[in-house]
Amino acid sequence: MSAPPNLLQAFEREFGHLPRLIARAPGRVNLLGEHVDYSDGWVLPVAIDRCAWLAASPSQSTEVSIHALDLGESIAFDLKGLEDKLDLAGEDLPAWALYPAGVAWALRHAGHALTGMQCVLTSDVPIGSGLSSSAAIEVAFATAWQALADWQVPPMALAQLCQHAENDYVGVQCGLMDQFCSLHGIRDHALCFDTRTHEWECVPLPAEVSLVIADSGVRRRLGGSAYNQRRAACEQAARLLSERLPNVRALRDVTPSELQEHEQALPPSLRPIAEHVVSECKRVRLGAEVLKAGDAASFGKLMFEGHASLRDLYEVSSPELDALVEIASGIPGCLGARLTGAGFGGCTINLVEAAEASAFVDRLAAEYQRKMDREAMVWISRAVDGAGLVPVSR
Ligand code: GLA
Repeated sequence: MSAPPNLLQAFEREFGHLPRLIARAPGRVNLLGEHVDYSDGWVLPVAIDRCAWLAASPSQSTEVSIHALDLGESIAFDLKGLEDKLDLAGEDLPAWALYPAGVAWALRHAGHALTGMQCVLTSDVPIGSGLSSSAAIEVAFATAWQALADWQVPPMALAQLCQHAENDYVGVQCGLMDQFCSLHGIRDHALCFDTRTHEWECVPLPAEVSLVIADSGVRRRLGGSAYNQRRAACEQAARLLSERLPNVRALRDVTPSELQEHEQALPPSLRPIAEHVVSECKRVRLGAEVLKAGDAASFGKLMFEGHASLRDLYEVSSPELDALVEIASGIPGCLGARLTGAGFGGCTINLVEAAEASAFVDRLAAEYQRKMDREAMVWISRAVDGAGLVPVSR
């Protein structure tokens, strides 16, 4: 993939020279395994051809100057004052700038040398849409800093540093899936990732199916706080179950039959939460097997089941996402559909027979418009390689 042409132009306009490097970091869709990565579960994400792009050069000082091309905003902060979350003028950093500042903070904490930086950021991963726009930005900055300051850590360690930034600087208690996927993506493959052991394998996507993303047009509501509450609920459920099942460290360790047997250990409000996680973990393991066998139809059924579980048990869907899934299920060639990412708005991912994909795109958009009186962006996506540097060339 080559960088958007306006990125270099903008860098030259802002800083008067060509950048030293360009980093690319993809967003992702998750095919199965939603809201289980903070319960040590298994996930099945795919890095997609929507990316964050960062053109960057080292600066002579400890200042980081970022021009956010899509927002038309510039911000500068000092690597020496990261704890304060302030810009050079002493104002609070805007929300988007907490991601790069958080990455710098996490890298510094881990003892990595950093350079000041002049950079321009652009991204076509829609913000707050469940496609991992935040992780793409974090990973683009981490990739750039690693190259500019001339050190290297394994991609899994870099993913964990980005997660640390989001957890402890930005304040969203996310799991590792998004950062992992942005760094490890493999063209035409899904990644089956065990978020406890960090073991993973890639699974080829069957050639006869397409991945279709549908953006409901509704941005995530209640983002961080509802997400953090879900995570806390999972941890509480695991704690309570571990009093009866001593081997349980996280909900991933609980089998469906154990949950049924020990349900009384949980207050009623936590039962559906635990049921979602336990059943979703089972779906991912089964899903990885059927996908390896090239059985896209069975995989699609698991996606529909996953959506129902997120809607009814975990309660992170929205009327718009439910409408997209329901409409999709009635369109010829659709094998599976579900919300993807954190939910509360954002996108659905649809598994569609390739021959039917473009008709599916048109029909889903038209029926959604009719039913919800809203416009959905619907497009066919591709699985791409994970983050890296691309040549600086006009
Ligand atoms: C967000 C988080 C991930 C994961 C998903 C839900 O994308 O960043 O870690 O928890 O939500 O599966």
